Amino acid sequence: MSVMFDPYSAQYFADPYPVFKRLRDELPLYHNAERNFWALSRYEDVFAAHRDVARFLSSGGVTIEGMEAGFPLLIVKDAPEHSWHKAMVTRVFTPKRMAELEPYIRQRAVELLEAAGLRPEFDFVKEFSVLLPLDVISRLLDIPEEYRDEYHHCVNDSLARGDGADATRAAAALQRVLEIFMTLIEERRAKRRDDVITMLMETEVKDEAGDMRRLEDYEVAFRFMEMGAAGHETAAKAIANGAMAFMRFPEQKKLLRQNPALFPKAVQEILRIEPPSQLQGRTTAVDVTLHGVTIPKGQKVMLLTGSACRDERAFQDPDRFDITREPDPRSLFFGFGVHKCLGMHLATLEIRIAFEELLRRYPDFNVDPAGAEYPVMSNVRGPSTLPGRLNRAG
Ligand code: HEM
Repeated sequence: MSVMFDPYSAQYFADPYPVFKRLRDELPLYHNAERNFWALSRYEDVFAAHRDVARFLSSGGVTIEGMEAGFPLLIVKDAPEHSWHKAMVTRVFTPKRMAELEPYIRQRAVELLEAAGLRPEFDFVKEFSVLLPLDVISRLLDIPEEYRDEYHHCVNDSLARGDGADATRAAAALQRVLEIFMTLIEERRAKRRDDVITMLMETEVKDEAGDMRRLEDYEVAFRFMEMGAAGHETAAKAIANGAMAFMRFPEQKKLLRQNPALFPKAVQEILRIEPPSQLQGRTTAVDVTLHGVTIPKGQKVMLLTGSACRDERAFQDPDRFDITREPDPRSLFFGFGVHKCLGMHLATLEIRIAFEELLRRYPDFNVDPAGAEYPVMSNVRGPSTLPGRLNRAG
């Protein structure tokens, strides 16, 4: 039985869940010869592969085509090099820095929602769910306002895939983002500042050979490019996906309004039911046999997080959005193991505040999932436009 799973098709982006179910039930190890990748769709297989870093490498790239393999990105490094690089960037996400960001996140959420509330109709994505994480990550990383819009469009161009996508444009967009960061680094070389860019430029750590080492400027630029890209598109999609989940399951919205103590669980459930990062790529370091089939060494294997989070073998009634569900201690939507998301606490905070402020102001808010448009992108899935009404009370 063949199941056509093309993660770069518009049909898949519109609704990946039926094909995920068929993969889990019929082909838990799937091979796509045309695009040259394998895929694991069951929760236990995805979880095990995340932990098995000796056989499932990240250095072959995390997308199907792996164009980012070889770039100095944290996400495509393997141990032992990955360990010290990650330890270094983890310093950006201190509890103190996160706590300092919280009032800003709330202030920005309120400003954006108040402005949008003055209009009868609005675009939930363009006017709220993208802008909030974009402004927050820009504040954390000190990306000046003048670059933000361009930066956002460049990130989107670099992640675009499918029929309308253009590899030259994606490469140029990536180049432009790096240029922006190189400019910011040069400014700090000329005059140091008390910010995270300067901090990463000046931090010294022991590398894999035990030598003290600082990041080169181009490495700092890549590190910021990575955090900036990972840090806004994913959270933007989570907030929009959450708004749609509340429309599909209105009784859950009512329940959350009646019981705000459920906010932390609601955030976990938003991420489980529609993981913004749907698939993570790995490359086999050796031949790996699973479900009676051998994947040869050097092959790309996609870990289908979007499917794993809906696996009925792991979750009861997985297609139901249930904000009282006990959070999964092995949750996969931020990855698992050494590559687990650096920004997970920040992202969780942003999503919680977005919905706290949205529901406080506009308990009858409305978005129209039927009007959502899904661009074809490399690893992330979520709408780029979502019509809505805030329905201000009174
Ligand atoms: C809802 C929002 C987010 C989701 C769903 C998400 C998801 C993920 C996932 C699944 C991974 C693992 C990738 C892999 O195993 O190959 C990851 C890694 C990563 N994330 Fe996030 N992320 C989010 C927000 C953020 C934010 C806000 C930042 C930064 C400010 C960030 C920065 C990173 C970085 C740098 C990595 C690479 C870590 C490593 O390779 O060690 N992410 N994220």
